Amino acid sequence: MLKSSIILNSSTLTSIQALTFQENHYFEKSFYNTMKKIISLLAIYLLIGCSIAVKTINQKKVLDTTKESSALGTLYNKYFWDNFHEGNYDNIDSVLYYLSASYYENPNDLETVAHLGFVHMWAISEMSNLKTVSPTIIDHSTLALKYFGEAYKLNPNDPRVLGFFADAKMMTASISDDKKLSTQGYFDGKKSISQWKQFNYFTVGYVLGQLHEESWQYKKGLEWQWKTLDKCYCEKFDRENPDIEKYLPMEKTEDNLKRKRACWNSWIAPHNVEGFYLNMGDMLVKSGDWKKGVQIYNLAKQVPQYENWIYKSVLEKRITSAEENVKKFSQPEKSEINDPINDVMLINSSISCMACHKMSSGDKEMYKDFDWNNYKDISNIYWLKK
Ligand code: HEC
Repeated sequence: MLKSSIILNSSTLTSIQALTFQENHYFEKSFYNTMKKIISLLAIYLLIGCSIAVKTINQKKVLDTTKESSALGTLYNKYFWDNFHEGNYDNIDSVLYYLSASYYENPNDLETVAHLGFVHMWAISEMSNLKTVSPTIIDHSTLALKYFGEAYKLNPNDPRVLGFFADAKMMTASISDDKKLSTQGYFDGKKSISQWKQFNYFTVGYVLGQLHEESWQYKKGLEWQWKTLDKCYCEKFDRENPDIEKYLPMEKTEDNLKRKRACWNSWIAPHNVEGFYLNMGDMLVKSGDWKKGVQIYNLAKQVPQYENWIYKSVLEKRITSAEENVKKFSQPEKSEINDPINDVMLINSSISCMACHKMSSGDKEMYKDFDWNNYKDISNIYWLKK
């Protein structure tokens, strides 16, 4: 299956070395126009001699140039949210159509640019929703890279964008067998973690969960899931006897925005916590420690919103199949993968985004009076306020 050829492979991540961004040379049009009048034959000769690399993505972007969000941008971003929360994977083309129209109108609209990155990531991550996967699916990875790159340039304050940018680099690098890009992605991921541990230990470690369970990157990704718990619950989490009962009251009083947004459920990710434990359990199972995996899966049931989560049955099945899933998750045999949710790890499944983001009817009821503009402002969603 195509999917297995797209996942990360360890070899692209092994040659970790300090890297600086590869700077390509390009000429801005105006500069080029002036220059070409005075350029001499000798200079042309020199230019040809020094192989000219053309930079095609992620050119200069400045948030100061951002125009006010237009009515169209607001409408199309709402269209994105509605479809994303519904889990309308089949509607992705239409979501991209409208977001692209909004981008065309204003390529500096922060929400539009970031959402284009997220939607391309959604498209490739949950590709097993498709009956047949076209080889052009890989374009979503390239485009996620482009848009997260631009979103990062527009607003380097949002560590979520850097975390996803890092993931897009590692994914694209694995497709194009580009070790330098892979290394850059890994280090961007580490930087994003230093900026927002509670969010990016998960985001970056989640993608590393596709690697071989014996690789150091996989082990690190798993360790980062444990560290998320230390950071979220403000103390060393008891790995021997996992239990979150005593931490649950913290949700109501939490006023640190980084913890409030990454460690609990919200309108953006109504089942973030359940999805987090589902993945962490999967990573433990794949590592062979299925008994610990079951303990971690069980934590999801302690979450107050668990009853509203439409993937309860997925979690239940994980618990009863944990032992047999060790082999399935670590050396998946193509013939055994019939069910794109239950037979594969969350990261490789058709719900790799929806596990946390999909809204059930109960959730919709709970958030029926939700005001996104107000929430965006008070929760400093894009970290625009210092
Ligand atoms: C473990 C749960 C989890 C998974 C899995 C997950 N996310 Fe998220 N996502 C979150 C959390 C938590 C946030 C941050 C909430 C906040 O910023 O307040 C978030 C934020 C987002 C946002 C918000 C952007 C904005 O405008 O504020 C988008 C879009 C998004 N994720 C897309 C995705 C996509 C696409 C995938 C799959 C590749 C995915 N997520 C997988 C938990 C998850």
